[in-house]
Amino acid sequence: AGNKTFTMLKPDAVENGYTGAILEQITASGFRIVAMKLTQMTKADAEKFYDIHKERPFFGELVEFMTRGPIVAAILEKENAVEDFRTLIGATNPEEAAEGTIRKKYATSIGENAVHGSDSDENAGIEGSFHFAGREIF
Ligand code: CMP
Repeated sequence: AGNKTFTMLKPDAVENGYTGAILEQITASGFRIVAMKLTQMTKADAEKFYDIHKERPFFGELVEFMTRGPIVAAILEKENAVEDFRTLIGATNPEEAAEGTIRKKYATSIGENAVHGSDSDENAGIEGSFHFAGREIF
């Protein structure tokens, strides 16, 4: 039981062969995977998913990056899921991320930062529904 967050292992993490290690760290930290798939976002998907960032100077780069290869999308369940997952992944910029966090260990740069984590319960719901149908969530 508990509440839910949404994550994506981004194209850099999948390309670099970190899928297994990251999923192991996530489950070892007490998160239960309740939905998961390997998928690739289209340009339209990424533009919609990151709509909140559309005025940012890095928006084009972000869409290009997020669509260049497969991602692992997942919904995770745990008590205090959103906040605890953001602690587990670390700061957006891997240079500022705490020792032992997923971004510290596996991210390439501020843009190619290995993993996404929802920033609120509301967004966790929106983002989970963006990638999964109800019958894909267990
Ligand atoms: P995330 O916080 O998961 O969602 C927004 C993403 O935009 C962020 O991860 C990075 O992948 C990307 N991003 C944020 N800041 C920058 C930046 N300064 N330059 C390039 N990409 C960025």
